[in-house]
Amino acid sequence: MSCASAVGKIILFGEHAVVYGRPAIAVPVSDVRATVTVESAERGAGITVVARDIGRTIRMGEAAADEPLTFTVRNTLTCLACDERALDLNVTITSTIPVAGGLGSGAAVAVALIRALCAHLGRPLDAAQVSALAYRTEMLFHGTPSGIDNTVIAYEQPVYFKKGYPIETFAVRTPFWLVVGDTGRPGLTKESVADVRAAWQRNPTHYNALFDTIGHLADRARQAIEAGEIALLGPLMSENQACLRELDVSSPELERLIAAALAAGAAGAKLSGGGRGGNMIALVTPERAARVQAALYEAGAKQVIVTGVGV
Ligand code: MEV
Repeated sequence: MSCASAVGKIILFGEHAVVYGRPAIAVPVSDVRATVTVESAERGAGITVVARDIGRTIRMGEAAADEPLTFTVRNTLTCLACDERALDLNVTITSTIPVAGGLGSGAAVAVALIRALCAHLGRPLDAAQVSALAYRTEMLFHGTPSGIDNTVIAYEQPVYFKKGYPIETFAVRTPFWLVVGDTGRPGLTKESVADVRAAWQRNPTHYNALFDTIGHLADRARQAIEAGEIALLGPLMSENQACLRELDVSSPELERLIAAALAAGAAGAKLSGGGRGGNMIALVTPERAARVQAALYEAGAKQVIVTGVGV
């Protein structure tokens, strides 16, 4: 039996603008994970994929061509030059990453699946190859993904991402803490990305300027993180949220949690990921974390985790 896992991710700065070539910053979150086991099955059984958390059992060959799990298995086997008809495997997926929460659950499942298949077949791929394979699955989910989710999850390091440029990882000089609050409402990344695109097409000048502002915020945030100037990050997060609001990807639930976090003493807060639901993040000192966490639950968050970046 082979087993592999993949972490979740948080976009700290730059979601949506990153689709249009502006820089964004994302970090891995190891508090949540997708895990995949691959076992040999009876001869002639073929390949069966079981996604425990969503109660699905899918047999290769019977699934639609765009079913994301079997699509990922097929792409991986093709990349490894393995004939899927010659394999008998039971593939089991579990995950603690909230689905459609902006924490990269789709990309993490794809990365864990690719890694577990590679381990089982004794054919390891490097992070760049795993990321490229997972990107294909992201295209099924999101239509026009930037590639940031699969990149940060496959590399498991803080990433400064600019579409079309080599991956840049960077160091976190002084650790900092985030409270991550789940609205409990699924984020609609595909829809929000498509809506932003339609709005950009209607008014490119306005939206390009907004994307530029977001890109500059990501650049300033990277400098602050590398210099250990954590106090600068809170205001930058709140400025980024103002831009996301203007892009119309926030939601009343996200705004309620963001306001609650700020009122409880967070230094800054914003949505993270596609928006319209999913998760928000708030920058806190370790002393304030419990208070902000409690305030988020009181404001209706379904789940709240506290995670350290660079810890
Ligand atoms: C989704 O986690 C982040 C978005 O910027 C989309 C993308 O980068 O593909 C909203």
